[in-house]
Amino acid sequence: MARLFFALWPDAGARDALAACGARIAASAGGRAVPAAKLHLTLAFLGEVAADRAAALREAAGEVEARAFRLELDEIGSFRRSGVAWAGCRVPPPGLSDLQADLAGRLARRGFEGESRAYAPHLTLVRRIAAPVAREAIDPVSWRVAAFSLVETLPAGGGYATVAEWRLRDGGT
Ligand code: 2AM
Repeated sequence: MARLFFALWPDAGARDALAACGARIAASAGGRAVPAAKLHLTLAFLGEVAADRAAALREAAGEVEARAFRLELDEIGSFRRSGVAWAGCRVPPPGLSDLQADLAGRLARRGFEGESRAYAPHLTLVRRIAAPVAREAIDPVSWRVAAFSLVETLPAGGGYATVAEWRLRDGGT
């Protein structure tokens, strides 16, 4: 069994800008800023997956036909229930919605049901905030999304490990 999810990793420039944003939020709202190397945007959360399901997972990812696109995170906010502050997009770009729907559909057809709630794209910047973070615009942080990754959450706080990566088709923005 492995604890798995599909995610987008920011490029180095976006990662640094997002880490700085997380540090600023933690300084005012409390909590722990997510270390730069762990900053990611989840596309699909899988949870515990048995080893014999790994091939089906890779097949689903390998069939994705979505195109590369530019992702611009232009607002921050927080989720009261999970106590995290995040960066997100006021209007998610079609490229992101297309990629998420393409992947989720192929996963569902192989029995990976995923979340029943609507997909709420967010990149967690700070965990265990002490006070809510008002939703507000930020200087946009963007990167070109040319690939997506299957990521494992390692046990005992061991961080994340990229298990595999798939490139998106060329031709997006
Ligand atoms: P979070 O950042 O909002 O906590 C690895 O844990 C990734 O999977 C994180 O991005 C986390 O979101 C997300 N995640 C964890 N549990 C989840 C769940 N039950 N449903 C959806 N996403 C989840």
